[in-house]
Amino acid sequence: MLLKLEKINKSYSNDRTILDQLDLEVKQGERIAIIGPSGSGKTTLLNLIGTLDRPDSGKMYFENQDLSVFSDQQLASFRNERIGFVFQMHHLLPQLTLLENILLPTLTDKKLQGKETLERVRVLISRMGLVEVAHQKPSELSGGECQRTAVARALINRPGLILADEPTGALDQQSAFNLTDLLVELNEEDGVTLIVVTHSMDVAKKMDRMYKIENGKLHLLGE
Ligand SMILES: Nc1ncnc2c1ncn2[C@@H]1O[C@H](COP(=O)(O)OP(=O)(O)O)[C@@H](O)[C@H]1O
Ligand SMILES: [Mg+2]
Repeated sequence: MLLKLEKINKSYSNDRTILDQLDLEVKQGERIAIIGPSGSGKTTLLNLIGTLDRPDSGKMYFENQDLSVFSDQQLASFRNERIGFVFQMHHLLPQLTLLENILLPTLTDKKLQGKETLERVRVLISRMGLVEVAHQKPSELSGGECQRTAVARALINRPGLILADEPTGALDQQSAFNLTDLLVELNEEDGVTLIVVTHSMDVAKKMDRMYKIENGKLHLLGE
C-alpha cells in the first residue's frame, strides 16, 4: 500500500469537525478522484496527505511508514522528494521564467542540481508542450500553459505521488481536457499515483475510483 489513512480526525480552532474517522487506502499507480461540495474538507484532506498539516488523531502511513513519528524537518524533505502538488491557481512566481519556476523545487538541495536535473527539465518542457515559451514569464502565458508548467514543477523531483487540488478549476474546457489527459498519461506511462480533487465529473470519470467527501468521510461512488 502506498498510502493508508486510518480514522483520521481533523477540526480547526472553531471545533467544527471537518474530517471524522476518515479512512482511505491508495495503492501505487492508482488514480483517485475526490469530489464534494465547497467547504466539505477536500483541501483539508489533501493538505494532510501532503503532510502540510497534521491530523488531530488517527494514523497515516506512507509505504507502511507511520508519518506521525516524523519531525517537521523530516516531513519537509519527505514532501519535497516524494510528493508533487498542483493547485487550482498555478502559484508560479511571476518574476521568474517558466523554466526557472520548474527548477524551484530543486533549489533547496544541492544534490538535485546536477546535469540530470537539467536534462529532466528539458524532457518535461518538451513533454508539456512548453518549448517555445520556456523563457517567458507567467504573465505572458495562457492559463493552460501556466498549469502545465505547474505540473512540470510538481514532477521535477520525480515524486511518486501527485496531489492536485482542483487543477482544472480555472481553465477553459479545452485546456481542462488537455491537462486531464496529461495527468492520466503521466499515470499510465510513468506510474505516478494521482489524487485529484475536482468539481468536474469529466475529470473525475477519468480516474480509477471516485470518492465523495461527506460528513467528514469518504464514500466510494459507483463504478
Ligand atoms: N485554516 C483554517 N482555519 C479554520 N477553518 C478552516 C481552515 N481551513 C479550512 N477551514 C474550514 O474547514 C472547512 C473545510 O475547508 P476545505 O478543506 O478548504 O474545504 P473544500 O476544499 O472542500 O472546499 C471549511 O468550512 C473551511 O472554512
Ligand atoms: Mg478546496
